[in-house]
Amino acid sequence: MENPIIATLDSYKIRKGLSEDQILQLIEYSSSDTDVGKFTTDSSRFKDRAGFDEFSTHILAYYVLVDNSDKLLGIIWFDDFIVKELPVGYRISFAIRLYGEARGKGLAQEFSEKAMEDFKKSEEYKSHPHPKLWLSVSPENEPAVSLYRKLGFKDLEINEEYHKLLMIKD
Ligand SMILES: CC(C)(COP(=O)(O)OP(=O)(O)OC[C@H]1O[C@@H](n2cnc3c(N)ncnc32)[C@H](O)[C@@H]1OP(=O)(O)O)[C@@H](O)C(=O)NCCC(=O)NCCS
Repeated sequence: MENPIIATLDSYKIRKGLSEDQILQLIEYSSSDTDVGKFTTDSSRFKDRAGFDEFSTHILAYYVLVDNSDKLLGIIWFDDFIVKELPVGYRISFAIRLYGEARGKGLAQEFSEKAMEDFKKSEEYKSHPHPKLWLSVSPENEPAVSLYRKLGFKDLEINEEYHKLLMIKD
């Protein structure tokens, strides 16, 4: 069954879940897209199909941004994962990547808002005991920090060990 369309933005679509082709594109871009490589560990996380499958065991939902031919342009995931620095009640993490030409066009905000809106309607979210979002980002990743502030994430603290800014959103 095709992964369902949850929103359409101009000539782009947002789908919930990934097709087999999109998983292969994700694996390819994770090692070939150097801008994504600068601030993420996706080249090892999505090294191959086994890596994707293992990572996906704790994923609550994936959303993809695709063009009219269903080519992967970006991905968002909501992960059920906790780090010790978080206040009680925060457990679901949010992550986003846009690939190649899709970056720098202001697509990330709408993609994120639509994905969050849909995710908040899901059973995975509604039945979750700690339904608040967090993320960690390199403070130097200006496009990402700027996006997260626009989405309503607030700074929590800098994790000195990993040099990451932790951000949270109710
Ligand atoms: C982070 C990311 C999703 C943002 O998406 P995007 O659609 O490219 O973002 P936008 O084009 O809306 O740009 C976001 C903001 O950063 C600004 N920006 C873009 N490139 C910039 C740069 N090189 N330096 C400083 N600011 C920059 C934009 O002007 C915009 O500013 P505004 O909020 O004042 O309008 C995208 O850049 C990406 O996928 N990066 C690689 C993967 C990654 O780092 N993910 C996050 C890991 S935590």
